[in-house]
Amino acid sequence: MLPPGGRISGSRLARLLGSWRRGGARQGSADLAAALKLLVADGRLPVGTRLPSERELTDALPVSRTTITTALDQLRAEGIVESRRGAGSWINGPVGAGGGITTGDDTLIDLTRCAPPALPELRPAMEVAMAQMPEYMASHGYHERGLPLLRQRIADRYTSRGLPTTPDQIVVTSGAQHAWALVLRLFVGPGDRVLVEQPTYPNALEAVRAALAIPVPVPMAADGWDVDAYEAAVRQAGPRLAYLIPDFQNPTALRLSSEGREALTDLLRKARTPLVADETLVELALDDEPAPLPMAAFAEDLVVSLGSASKSHWGGLRIGWIRASTEIVHRLLSTRASIDLGTPVFEQLVLAALLEDPEPVLRQRRLEIAGQRDVALEALREHCPQWTFRRPAGGLGVWCTLDAPVSTRIAVVAQNHGLRLVPGPRWAVHGGCEQMLRVPYTQSPEVLREAIGRLGVVAASVAGTGFPADAEVLGPVA
Ligand SMILES: Cc1ncc(COP(=O)(O)O)c(C=O)c1O
Repeated sequence: MLPPGGRISGSRLARLLGSWRRGGARQGSADLAAALKLLVADGRLPVGTRLPSERELTDALPVSRTTITTALDQLRAEGIVESRRGAGSWINGPVGAGGGITTGDDTLIDLTRCAPPALPELRPAMEVAMAQMPEYMASHGYHERGLPLLRQRIADRYTSRGLPTTPDQIVVTSGAQHAWALVLRLFVGPGDRVLVEQPTYPNALEAVRAALAIPVPVPMAADGWDVDAYEAAVRQAGPRLAYLIPDFQNPTALRLSSEGREALTDLLRKARTPLVADETLVELALDDEPAPLPMAAFAEDLVVSLGSASKSHWGGLRIGWIRASTEIVHRLLSTRASIDLGTPVFEQLVLAALLEDPEPVLRQRRLEIAGQRDVALEALREHCPQWTFRRPAGGLGVWCTLDAPVSTRIAVVAQNHGLRLVPGPRWAVHGGCEQMLRVPYTQSPEVLREAIGRLGVVAASVAGTGFPADAEVLGPVA
């Protein structure tokens, strides 16, 4: 079958590939195949994407045509790429579970997801939900806003965080990512600019692109949000919307201070730029530090908040929500019907049960994650002593600065060690972040120790493997 997808240019593919290459001509084709598999596995090269011709690739990549042909042959043999005379080559099949990794055993560790497993309290909550189901099953089951019981409990949580909220300000969604897609649909059209942090959550960037809007990166300073940079970006880009992760930002784990919240909302209010505050990680404060008020408390008129149960309770519930003014809620509901007609009732009841008395469950979650964070940081100090990082005060991952710009190379080589990683450039709008790597600490201490031990081996094997003087460097390095 011919591919349905779009075509990627050689130069864009080179940019996506980043600095994938180890030194030495012999590994060239294997490394290129592994780097391409990484792009397929993490969705940057969707199935159906048509690849550039070998000639175009030879112009775009710093390797010989033979290396490219051999890499594509390998991917064809694995069923990942298909080619047809006259139709070119395209991505034919997804990389299998584990990203096409051939470790020869079943000890693959996936560090691409920053999401913990469900807590034991989920089971009793499911029983409560099951007992409530007959009452709901007597009616049609469509609840575009979400169940009143759950909206009330979500609203109460905001109120307890210092932001008085009523249930009619809440729309329950199927996760925060769905919430973000719904909000984007309401606020932006093709060509509109959306301010985003750089680095930021890759799927948030993808949603902006899918809305045909243009993400405009505002670089984060080492210690947080740079208000001057926002001022310049607002002036130069004239954005329709700004998107921020103010609490334990993914991936830096930084938290915006109260002063920062005030300064940023003042600035955006003057520019009449609405702000979407993604609070997906807000419940995961791991140290006993006072929490700033939610962003919306600083600018009720300007801020749309996104929330999620994915990190605090379980991603498998697929429950998120939007908190906004009742006027925006009305507008959201009028556009939602073209996408979906509500979120499953059972999962909403499960979350409602968990939120009836939320603190004990959340305390348990924080304790467990804080312990895993400490294990991960200790293992990183031991196995990757050449890297630096700031101790996260919350969230689920640590953002490491590597000793060289080798993040993509590390992710490529890690596949051969049974380790899946997200390379730094995925967090950036136009590439970059090659010297950064996010290490999630959402798995058990044993798995984390093993994973970071492997990471140390990979980091050592990649160290000092830049382009050797006699390597077959034929084109510009992306
Ligand atoms: C900042 C941020 N927003 C949204 C999401 C997606 O959340 P959900 O599972 O609720 O769709 C994530 C998941 O990692 C995230 O880190």
